[in-house]
Amino acid sequence: MNDLVIAPSILAADFARLGEEVRDVVAAGADWIHVDVMDGHFVPNITIGPDVVKALRPHTDRVLDVHLMIAPADPYLDAFAKAGADVISVHVEAGPHIHRALQAIRHLGKRAGIVLNPGTPASAVEPLLDAVDLVLVMSVNPGFGGQAFIPGAVDKVARLSRMRGGRAIRIEVDGGVSAATAGALAAAGADTLVAGSAIFKGGPEAYAENIAAIRSAARAGLRQRAA
Ligand code: DX5
Ligand code: ZN
Repeated sequence: MNDLVIAPSILAADFARLGEEVRDVVAAGADWIHVDVMDGHFVPNITIGPDVVKALRPHTDRVLDVHLMIAPADPYLDAFAKAGADVISVHVEAGPHIHRALQAIRHLGKRAGIVLNPGTPASAVEPLLDAVDLVLVMSVNPGFGGQAFIPGAVDKVARLSRMRGGRAIRIEVDGGVSAATAGALAAAGADTLVAGSAIFKGGPEAYAENIAAIRSAARAGLRQRAA
């Protein structure tokens, strides 16, 4: 699982031109599109719902990586699956029956992801590893783009990387990811990097350069890991 995925978070895009932003960032080299769903309850911000995912679906054939920052998540899984999400991730902190939510996501034919807040230890997902296709490590407290990277995420990635053993589980990191942090993350075992402000800064003419900078920093980290 060492193919690198760069997933721009559209939270940092121009919400009035989302379809065009998705097309531009894919043309600039994005592998996946990361979609941040917030409910004003699990996190202190409100963003978008399944109708926006549905509206974006015809704009790209890339993986739509839907990060649910909502509680409860279960009542909405079906709507996000029908809207065209490919990966659906739920927070381990979002409810008492998170394993059931992961089963439901797989039952809908989608890839299931589990997300950990910065205050949640890696061990919290150990019992869930056979039920997931992806583990997402938050390197900021979820709710807003543009926050500073929390360095403890690197150790958490390393721990998860050991914990997953031979399982085909991607390790994704979200929050404050940039060319400055991508190398250490990839060296620790991350293979999927979400970035909002570091990719959308400077407008469409800068997207390709911004993505390339993160990718080359991450590749350097992967070489370090292999050495
Ligand atoms: C934060 C979101 C992130 C956010 C990352 O709650 O989950 O996906 O968009 O933004 P940056 O890369 O600007 O930290
Ligand atoms: Zn996110």
